Amino acid sequence: MAVAHLLQISATGNAARNRVAPPAVLLILQLLFTALGADAAASFIFTNACQHPVWVGTLHGATSPPLARSGFYLAPSATSRLDAPSSGAWSGTFWARTGCAVDSSTGRFSCATADCGTGDVACDGRGPSPPVTLVEVTLAGGGQDFYDVSLVDGFNVPVRVAPSGGSGGDCRAAACAGDVNAMCPADLRVVSGAGGAVVACRSACNAYGSARYCCTGQYGTPATCGPTNYSQVFKSACPAAYSYAYDDASSTFTCVGASSYDITFCPGS
Ligand SMILES: *[C@@H]1O[C@H](CO)[C@@H](O)[C@H](O)[C@H]1NC(C)=O
Repeated sequence: MAVAHLLQISATGNAARNRVAPPAVLLILQLLFTALGADAAASFIFTNACQHPVWVGTLHGATSPPLARSGFYLAPSATSRLDAPSSGAWSGTFWARTGCAVDSSTGRFSCATADCGTGDVACDGRGPSPPVTLVEVTLAGGGQDFYDVSLVDGFNVPVRVAPSGGSGGDCRAAACAGDVNAMCPADLRVVSGAGGAVVACRSACNAYGSARYCCTGQYGTPATCGPTNYSQVFKSACPAAYSYAYDDASSTFTCVGASSYDITFCPGS
């Protein structure tokens, strides 16, 4: 928008003076165009590397606008892209739903894991029901972006978030690539289907709701809420992901100037 406006003003100015723009002016405009283009908002590129389909959910933060789609189907091997708003600043979360189907009698769409409760593929501003592996992203729009993978609400699908084109900061991939379902403690398992396959793993907070596991009440500070025997199971499976609310040190990643964030479900398969 800004670029088009600028070019228009320049063209009008040149026409008024009734002469052709000298090459230097064109070169400057071209450089300006390139510089502005490089500042464009980042995009999110979703890839489903799982053997099964997933239904991606997207939720914007309270002060961010919604993205173009709040939920969509992603077949195995498929890739789909969503752009952050043109202002560049945006925060929100992404997740994968599994085992989704439309009920033939009610017409309602629902999922075995991470359902957002709308009865539709679109999540329309509603978050997932746990357990769910969450990708959390805060784009600064020019400054330092923050991103992480969180198991604070449990785990359903392995995921990796990797910036590309970053010019500063760490810009490393954040991931929970391990199959937490395979090592989920018996009392946290969510099973589905006739075979009783483990489709998700609850967090201890979600399963027991205690202040100790949820880091609330007298445990509501980093100093009073350390890891537990349950969070350690998640941490050993996924060392680079949040395993409980105050698990900050090894779990938050930063990057400056990334042009895209690649979000891959089942990155290890
Ligand atoms: C964690 O500890 C509690 C008691 O402190 C015990 O009941 C539970 O079985 C333990 N869970 C795991 C996964 O070790």
